[in-house]
Amino acid sequence: MTLRALHDAAREALDPVRYDYVAGGAGEERVLAANEQAFESYRLLPRVLCGSETRDTAVDLPGARQAAPVIVAPTAFHRLMHPDGERATARAAAAEGAVLVTGTAATTAVDAVVAAAREAAPDPAVWFQLYPHPRREVTEALVLRAEAAGCTALVVTVDSPVFGRHTRDLRNGFTDLPPGYAAENMRDLPGAPPGSLTDIPMSPALSWRDFAGIPRMTALPVLVKGVLHPADARLAVEHGASGVIVSNHGGRQCDAVPAAVDCLPAVVGAVAGRVPVLLDGGVRRGSDVAVALALGAAAVGVGRPVVWGLAAGGEAGARTVLATLRDEYDHTLALCGGRRNADLTQDMVVRKGGTW
Ligand code: FNR
Repeated sequence: MTLRALHDAAREALDPVRYDYVAGGAGEERVLAANEQAFESYRLLPRVLCGSETRDTAVDLPGARQAAPVIVAPTAFHRLMHPDGERATARAAAAEGAVLVTGTAATTAVDAVVAAAREAAPDPAVWFQLYPHPRREVTEALVLRAEAAGCTALVVTVDSPVFGRHTRDLRNGFTDLPPGYAAENMRDLPGAPPGSLTDIPMSPALSWRDFAGIPRMTALPVLVKGVLHPADARLAVEHGASGVIVSNHGGRQCDAVPAAVDCLPAVVGAVAGRVPVLLDGGVRRGSDVAVALALGAAAVGVGRPVVWGLAAGGEAGARTVLATLRDEYDHTLALCGGRRNADLTQDMVVRKGGTW
């Protein structure tokens, strides 16, 4: 099945309000559209007579050796999309050798997510996405929970000082989780009565100082997710980040920012090879992965496509998405004369209005 067919099957399978929750973006959904459209404006300029029968698409990421260059971006509430929820996504990612980023808004607790991943592979890489809490002891409790569960890296999301205005959800009145579902990692945190839930934190008062405290809480590598400005990429590295994820949250936060991939080259320039730079937003085919890698990304994240796979076919559906992207990427690498990811270089990308 193609990724497009899986999306269509998911749309059929899902309650329309839940479909809209995943598909939608903020405001007029300009950034949501721009993320995909931007990839339309890039083309690859292949090299010839320099390829190989076998290609090496593995990549070293923080806390994830030999993963493919496609990771599962953190998306909330998988149990709303399929009864097997995050457990199915975890098994799918582990079976395909892809990093799964689970997180604060998962409907399955992180220890159960890592346990499910271990059913599918002996040494899976699961990262934990964190919305830092203004109360340091809450953040610390979440960090320790992720560490104890066996996560191999943390991802701190910094593009959400306030919650995005998701037009479809506001129209549909979808502002709370239905009964029976909860952000399970937010249970039993410091300062709340046993068994009760703490709200998912978002605070415009958090600073780089708060961020810098997180790498000091843990031996795990800490990546920053949601950087668009090159100056912030520099600050992230200076404050101890082990990786920078260029992302506009899939068009779900500020509806006036550039497409994620358009921000990539400047961030790569600012980071200057000190830590890996990843990208998410609008990646829908293997050639998009190749464009992002040629522009300097070490790997890309996919959000919605994995959720569509999960909704359409549970674990098998999510696996199909990852296997398809990896296979298409490998095929594109071959067509571009590449043997390994690093063979894709910036001179091999042309842009509409430029040389194309
Ligand atoms: C997200 N994203 C997200 N990011 C994050 O850091 N924490 C989260 O809890 C969520 N939740 C979430 C839910 C849903 C339904 C979507 C679609 C997205 C953003 C996500 O990690 C990623 O940045 C985008 O999804 C990437 O864009 P694509 O691949 O969906 O185009």
